[in-house]
Amino acid sequence: MRICLTAVCLDFVQGVGADSQGVMSKRTARMMEEGSSSRHNISGGSQRSSPESTRSLRSEDLSVVNENGRAYPNDTFFMPCDSQEQTRLSILHRVFLNALGGQLTTAPLPSTIERILDVGSGSGDWAVAIALEYPGAEVVAVDLAVWDVEAAEEDAKQRLDEQGMHDVELPEVTWEIADLDMWGPVEHVEVTVEEGIEDEHVAKSVTGLNTQEGGKGRANSVQSNRSSRRESWRRSYNPPSRRGSVNLGWNFSEPFDFIHIRGMKGAFAYWTGVYRECYANLVPGGWLEVVDFQYHIAQPDSVMREVFINFHAVASKSGYPVTTTHLQREFFEAAGFEEYEMIAIDIPLGAWPGDDENHTLGKMHLVSLVESIEATALRSMTKHAGFTKEEVQERCGDVVQELLTGVHDQLETSFRFVRARKPLNDDK
Ligand SMILES: *[C@@H]1O[C@H](CO)[C@@H](O)[C@H](O)[C@H]1NC(C)=O
Ligand SMILES: *[C@@H]1O[C@H](CO)[C@@H](O)[C@H](O)[C@H]1NC(C)=O
Ligand SMILES: *[C@@H]1O[C@H](CO)[C@@H](O)[C@H](O)[C@H]1NC(C)=O
Ligand SMILES: *[C@@H]1O[C@H](CO)[C@@H](O)[C@H](O)[C@H]1NC(C)=O
Ligand SMILES: *[C@@H]1O[C@H](CO)[C@@H](O)[C@H](O)[C@H]1NC(C)=O
Repeated sequence: MRICLTAVCLDFVQGVGADSQGVMSKRTARMMEEGSSSRHNISGGSQRSSPESTRSLRSEDLSVVNENGRAYPNDTFFMPCDSQEQTRLSILHRVFLNALGGQLTTAPLPSTIERILDVGSGSGDWAVAIALEYPGAEVVAVDLAVWDVEAAEEDAKQRLDEQGMHDVELPEVTWEIADLDMWGPVEHVEVTVEEGIEDEHVAKSVTGLNTQEGGKGRANSVQSNRSSRRESWRRSYNPPSRRGSVNLGWNFSEPFDFIHIRGMKGAFAYWTGVYRECYANLVPGGWLEVVDFQYHIAQPDSVMREVFINFHAVASKSGYPVTTTHLQREFFEAAGFEEYEMIAIDIPLGAWPGDDENHTLGKMHLVSLVESIEATALRSMTKHAGFTKEEVQERCGDVVQELLTGVHDQLETSFRFVRARKPLNDDK
């Protein structure tokens, strides 16, 4: 598959699961034919997962909300769940993989691991990959929306074929549809620009790719270095509060050895509750990994910066801030976790790096960002900020133009991988 934007082309060795129809097309059609005995056991049929946390597969469960030309899993969730989004998530999965040099996680998992939970599994690429890596483990992948997870499976199969492994059975993943956000929005929290986009922290010098200071001018007035950027991740611990109280749980019938939450900023608002629930659903000694990223937008009067600031303000207003404050140590420790460790990796955004490896990675990352700008902003900006679809699209188009014409010099994204462990002696 070849994806081309005005200035960037990217070849994928394998397809990333796009088809031009709705993402549900093939899979839904088959499940409808077969009823809930689909080979994916997406409903709560499996003894080992949680009957109550899943809904049975009825046609109304599969309906999506169509709005402004995109499909959404429900009336409020800010991200779409169509084939375009599936493609983006698959590309982003490659970026995450690349960031870790091909590893799926930073958690030191024993090979004997038995149960793995992927919260917000999206396109399903990670869940399929981890199931392949730990064939003895049961992998439960939960998402709010129905995705064409068969595309992820076919992709994995093709990859194996290319490596000469033709007869490998893909392990079953238990795909569940459930809304794991039992807490709803939080009280309005002020989000500073730094928390939202870290724009003041260019830190060219951290990349090791181009340590030349001076010259180009643009971002030079911004004083920054790696440690100041680090600081911006360490806000004071000030968890937002919730309206009302929730005593319900996720209802998984058996605990997990590993819970994985990637790219879920903005999907949950009350992270204190999320981590508490993760803790309750882990075996003693079990690992939690939470992964997210932030862009650094240096260019002071760029459209990109303006759009991001607007978007972050609107997201906070909606009660679901799209920040990464939930990666802070204090959140994990408050829930009882130990052995907190954050691994920080800067990934180039755009085709600017000189070496082939980073060049390809930067391009891939750019494609996923370009794909995500409108997807991320459209619903929030039209629903909560009174913009029209056309206005949002125009602004987003301008951002894409900026990205492709090199207005933003040497952009990077900070990827953060946090792992933490439930104490071995806690068998609650
Ligand atoms: C799906 O769930 C049913 C009911 O629990 C079970 O009998 C069946 O073996 C499961 N199928 C797969 C492929 O796991
Ligand atoms: C867990 O079960 C309770 C009680 O049946 C239910 O209200 C709640 O929504 C369930 N949680 C999830 C995540 O489905
Ligand atoms: C839609 O899903 C999100 C994400 O889980 C949830 O927070 C929200 O309450 C849901 N909205 C509705 C109307 O069900
Ligand atoms: C890619 O960039 C990273 C960090 O910016 C650097 O450590 C690495 O050496 C680069 N890769 C190559 C092949 O130059
Ligand atoms: C890096 O930033 C920190 C915090 O702003 C500052 O204290 C430090 O002096 C800076 N270091 C360099 C080498 O500029």
